[in-house]
Amino acid sequence: MRLAVAGKGGAGKTTISATLARLAARSGASVVAVDADANPNLGVALGLAAQIAGTLDPVAPALVSRRLGGAALTLPVDDVLHRHAVSAPDGVRLLGMGAPAHAEEGCLCAAHAVVSALLGDLGDGGRFVVVDMEASPEHLSRGTVRHVDAVCLVAEPYYRSLETVRRMAGLVAELPVPRVVVVANKLRSPLDREAVAEFCDRHGYELAGVVPWTDAVGAADRRRVPVVDQPGCEPFVDAVAALAAALRAPISGP
Ligand SMILES: Nc1ncnc2c1ncn2[C@@H]1O[C@H](COP(=O)(O)OP(=O)(O)O)[C@@H](O)[C@H]1O
Ligand SMILES: [Mg+2]
Repeated sequence: MRLAVAGKGGAGKTTISATLARLAARSGASVVAVDADANPNLGVALGLAAQIAGTLDPVAPALVSRRLGGAALTLPVDDVLHRHAVSAPDGVRLLGMGAPAHAEEGCLCAAHAVVSALLGDLGDGGRFVVVDMEASPEHLSRGTVRHVDAVCLVAEPYYRSLETVRRMAGLVAELPVPRVVVVANKLRSPLDREAVAEFCDRHGYELAGVVPWTDAVGAADRRRVPVVDQPGCEPFVDAVAALAAALRAPISGP
């Protein structure tokens, strides 16, 4: 299964992606986590030391060929994983897309082509692939994620975040992606939950997960500890496990 996690900046995409990846790996799944944010943070959220996460060797655009039907890797995907993936805790394998090294470097077309080719070729092999996207809708407008099986839109319970989800859902609907779901995050009250549920009802979206505000999640972030390893994060982790179950991701529970 290939799952892309999208939404407004700060909504919780990286924290949820890392937690889904770690839980799936603990359940015995073969997990590939793709950091598709040009400002990469997924490595540390998975539990890599910042120094190691900083040495992630992105898949080179030279390994991508463009052909009719989209970008494709020029090597078998297992070779690409062997060469470029970094091993994170619980056996998660992390791949990155290139981040700009310098100012005025130009556009990220090549990096997007890499993610698109990877997602196309990672479909085989019974893996659980989770893609942590950047806040920009560019992954959707470019069709970078056209090969995923589902897009999970993370929404905080406030207007601008929900509006971002509405716009992104409209773009996903134009891609050949079979499923789009909403996950509500940072819910502090039943009213918060009702607001997102009402929004989903109104637009006909599937609300697949509801994740409570959890103080310990922020504390884990500040300490650079993955939430699955941080005592006190259980409400968050349990809710992400329930989301995984709703998505039928290969997760047997925290
Ligand atoms: N349910 C939650 N409760 C409390 N803090 C949260 C929760 N979800 C995410 N956060 C915090 O919100 C901030 C942004 O999360 P992050 O996953 O980096 O968002 P994104 O990747 O969407 O930009 C981080 O400090 C994270 O620890
Ligand atoms: Mg992020």
